[in-house]
Formats: sequence, C-alpha cells, structure tokens
Amino acid sequence: MEVRIDVSKPGGGSYPILIERGALKALHARAAEYGLDKRVGVITNTTVAPLYGEALSSALPNAALITMPDGEQFKTLETTSSLYAQMVNVGLDRGGTVVALGGGVVGDTAGFAAATFMRGVRLVQIPTTLLAMVDSSVGAKVGVDLPQGKNLVGAFKQPALVLIDPDVLATLSSRERRCGLAEVIKHGLIADPGLLDDVERQADDAKLIQRAVQVKVNIVEEDPYEQNIRAYLNLGHTFAHAIEQVSNYAWLHGEAVAVGLIAAARLSHRLHLCEADLVDTVERAVANAGLPQSIEGLEPEALWAAMATDKKWQQGRSRFVLLRGLGNPQIVEAVPREDVITVLEHLR
Ligand SMILES: NC(=O)c1ccc[n+]([C@@H]2O[C@H](COP(=O)([O-])OP(=O)(O)OC[C@H]3O[C@@H](n4cnc5c(N)ncnc54)[C@H](O)[C@@H]3O)[C@@H](O)[C@H]2O)c1
Ligand SMILES: [Zn+2]
Repeated sequence: MEVRIDVSKPGGGSYPILIERGALKALHARAAEYGLDKRVGVITNTTVAPLYGEALSSALPNAALITMPDGEQFKTLETTSSLYAQMVNVGLDRGGTVVALGGGVVGDTAGFAAATFMRGVRLVQIPTTLLAMVDSSVGAKVGVDLPQGKNLVGAFKQPALVLIDPDVLATLSSRERRCGLAEVIKHGLIADPGLLDDVERQADDAKLIQRAVQVKVNIVEEDPYEQNIRAYLNLGHTFAHAIEQVSNYAWLHGEAVAVGLIAAARLSHRLHLCEADLVDTVERAVANAGLPQSIEGLEPEALWAAMATDKKWQQGRSRFVLLRGLGNPQIVEAVPREDVITVLEHLR
C-alpha cells in the first residue's frame, strides 16, 4: 500500500513523499507521471550502483548513471565538480532531472549539484538508508563539507519528489540500520513518543518510516529555514558531533547520536527540567535498538573542548536542545561546564 505525505514548500506549493514497498522496481512504469521520461542523471555511489543504480538507470527511458566514490570523505566540492563534468558529458540540460539514489552522503552531494548546476535542475530524492529516509532526504537541506568543517557549504533545494522504498533496506548493514534507528528515536523524543514503542516492538519498516518522516515534515513545514523549532532536530547532536570528532570518526553518526540522546536526557534531569523516568525511557529505547549507551572511555574534558567549537555556540556560550518531557523539547543556553562534565562522567 502506498503512503503519500505532501510537504508544503515555503514559497507555496508542495511535493510528495511516497512510501511504498517495491516502488523502486516499479518506477519505470510511472516515469512519465514523475517527469522521469526526460533526460535523467541517476547519481549514486559505487556501492549502491550495482545494487540498484544500474537497474534503475537502464529501466528509465532516457537516463544515464553517474557515480561518486562511497564515504563521507567524498562529500566535497571536488566530488561536486566531477559530478558537474559527468552531467555535462551525459547531456543533462536545464529540462533534465537529477535522481539522488543513496544514503545521506549521496543525497546531500547530488542534491547540492542539482541545486547549482545550470542554476538549478529538478531533483528527485530516492533515499536508500534508514537515516536518509527519515532525516536527510526530507527538508531540502543539501550541501558538502569543507576541510574546515562539515556541511559548511550548501543550499536549500526543494525536491520535486521523495520516493522511499523500504525494500532496499534489505541490503543495508545492521550497523547502518541501527544508526537510522537513533534518528527515529530522536524524532520520537521530540514529538511522537509512540514511535519509541514502535521501535521497541520492532514495528514494520514502512510504518516506522512513515511515522518518523511525519515528525520531520511537521517541523520543516513550520520552520523551513531553521529560524526556530527546526533546531529541535539537533537533540543529542551537540554531544554526538563531539563524540564523532574526538573518536576520529571511529563512531558512526547514529551511534554518537544514541549516546547523545542519553546525555541530553541526563542533562535535562540534572537541570531539573524533567523527571528521572525520562532518562530511563531514553536509555531503554537506545538499548533496545542495540545502540551504545556509554561514551566508552572518551574523555569528558576532550568532549567539552570539541563542543565549545560548535558553530551554534555563539561567543562560547553553550547551547543544548534538552527535554522538559517526552515530546517537549526546549533550547537551553549557557549551561555550566561542570554540569555537562558531570553528565559525561556518568556515561563513561
Ligand atoms: N541534509 C540533511 O538534512 C541531513 C540530515 C541528516 C544527515 N545528513 C547527512 O547524511 C549523511 C549520512 O547519511 P547516511 O547515514 O545515509 O550515510 P551514507 O550515505 O554514508 O550511507 C551509509 C553506507 O550505506 C551504504 N548504503 C546506502 N544505501 C544502501 C543500501 N540500500 N544497501 C546497502 N548499502 C547501502 C552507503 O554506500 C554507505 O556506505 C551525513 O553526511 C550527514 O551530514 C544530512
Ligand atoms: Zn543526525
């Protein structure tokens, strides 16, 4: 059964997110309906190309396959530049469409190429990781990293369509799948506590995805350019970015987010924003998803130092998304260093 969620765009109009098992294999039959019968560049990476990219580009009537290497280290301007060259070479023109087929790295990079090539061509997002399905493919943020930091160059590029086929998760590693669950739990904590039960009961993927996507849609519709409540999506992420950095990226993003969610809950309780049972709820959700619950020996002081370089900490004033309760996030500034360190000491 197909689920359709229409997302309102800031300037008016909307685009659909379609969630349906088997949708990728059946896409060629609906090419005209989705404007995919004109020139299409299917941009993917070298891992996803043999799994789904080659089949998709040959099934579409007028598509070419464009690939980039696999890995966050390739989410760069150099890769974007090589994508532009391939787009020219396959004859993609202003009437053409970029299909971004892959995880968040492909979605962000190909999306940025689509936003800027010939001042912008049509973009269709086909996310293939759980994280990309529930988080990065929705909300129009695209971009690449610079040597100086992650996501420092980018744009808002509204897609024409987001197509989610849960069947492609069959080939995703269990480690990457768990990383997506961390973001699902985050969405549950921010706005839909029932999602936590769904994760615990191991509800059907399509259902889990639909519910988690709806949380993100509601937030980006209300705050498309991150002027206020969109920041709630950063719950646990101040801790997570520090963990990723201090571990030299040995931790995957979702793993760091999982401990970051626990840290945020503990900090909320320490600051008397919430009851202790909220901490238990978050710990249980993280444990059930098979995600890490401690910082595994990382130094609290080193984590604090990494946090202090956060773009969102203006003039060194700390800034966290915390929880007053389930589904009740709040931004708190100027949290004392010693409270943060104490929380991290507990998580060692
Ligand atoms: N734009 C946004 O709003 C936003 C939001 C959150 C995260 N992000 C970005 O997303 C990126 C992380 O995305 P990710 O977690 O999807 O990582 P990823 O894109 O690196 O994908 C993880 C791994 O899974 C592989 N893979 C993808 N689909 C597969 C499939 N169906 N079967 C087998 N293997 C598959 C990929 O090749 C890769 O090796 C980061 O760069 C982050 O900054 C962006
Ligand atoms: Zn995240």
